[in-house]
Amino acid sequence: RPRVFSGMQPTADSLHLGNYLGALRQWVQLQDTHDAIYSVVDLHALTVSPDPAALRARTRVTAAQYLAAGVDPERSILFVQSHVPEHAELTWVLGCLTGFGEASRMTQFKDKSAKQGTDGTTVGLFTYPVLMAADILLYDADLVPVGEDQRQHLELSRNLAQRLNSRYAPEGTELVTVPEPYIVKATAKIYDLAEPTAKMSKSGNPSGLIELLDPPKVVAKRIKSAVTDADTVIAFDPVAKPGVSNLLSIHSALSGVPIDELVAEFDGKMYGHLKVAVVDVVEAALGPIRERVGELLARPDELDEILAVGAQKARAIARETLARVYDAVGLVPAR
Ligand code: TYM
Repeated sequence: RPRVFSGMQPTADSLHLGNYLGALRQWVQLQDTHDAIYSVVDLHALTVSPDPAALRARTRVTAAQYLAAGVDPERSILFVQSHVPEHAELTWVLGCLTGFGEASRMTQFKDKSAKQGTDGTTVGLFTYPVLMAADILLYDADLVPVGEDQRQHLELSRNLAQRLNSRYAPEGTELVTVPEPYIVKATAKIYDLAEPTAKMSKSGNPSGLIELLDPPKVVAKRIKSAVTDADTVIAFDPVAKPGVSNLLSIHSALSGVPIDELVAEFDGKMYGHLKVAVVDVVEAALGPIRERVGELLARPDELDEILAVGAQKARAIARETLARVYDAVGLVPAR
């Protein structure tokens, strides 16, 4: 079966609806058709210099959310990135194949480093996409389910895979698999409720976020205060009506009702009606996840055991790939 790989950073106390609809939900579905490997990418999280105790807690909470959403450790590999040292090792090799200019053109790096200044920007932030490429190439992933904001990073991963292959694999063969992005258009970019032209993000305004682990009252309040517009017409038009369109997208993604049917259903009704309906479908989706996360966190030993087994399985694959790449680039094997 073809293989998928994806990961999320443990950089918040909860995942948000963008993470869920843009990626996690696809991860769960792809388990039916693919060999799936999912990681909590804690090394990536170091780029935001987190408090150590917070990082530790968030790593477990993130893993618990994967499981609660339906990632099944009996069928898929679930592990913590830093438990498999080959990720950092392959990053070095790939870093030596990445152009300085090429890495400098990554828009996420440009945005973040512009905010932090030269001295506030770390080399780790600069090489973030190279570590991400290592994550993917180590497992010869065919498909990488992510949100729209990761498209450029995926393109870099593809370029690095092709570069490894063309420089170091005999003509017509592959040293590593060239991965394809898997980005579902309808949910590729979920917007901030308070600022519906910006993507929903952990680093955004809290009132614009729907967090998986927020109490239902908080979720309801944020949806009811979502920014719409001065108009009263419920229509799907992301440019003219970004707030209303975002609410329609969220409803449709979670309820399965096509957007045009929702528009017909809410024709002539007020924004408040749509918001109440969105509160209901969001709670129906998140309630059970929240509950299962609570159960999983109450048994931390079981969670750690799942992660230990996952790391062992992941490492067996990663070790082989790294050995193959080290050999191909000319590193003498240790004996
Ligand atoms: P992270 O943790 O920032 O985001 C996790 C996933 O959530 C998606 N996402 C969204 N999708 C739709 N709408 C939004 N508003 C929204 N916000 C976030 C992201 O696209 C992502 O899929 N660099 C990755 C982590 C990573 C990774 C990897 C992913 C590290 N190594 C290897 C795939 C393969 C990231 O952005 O994580």
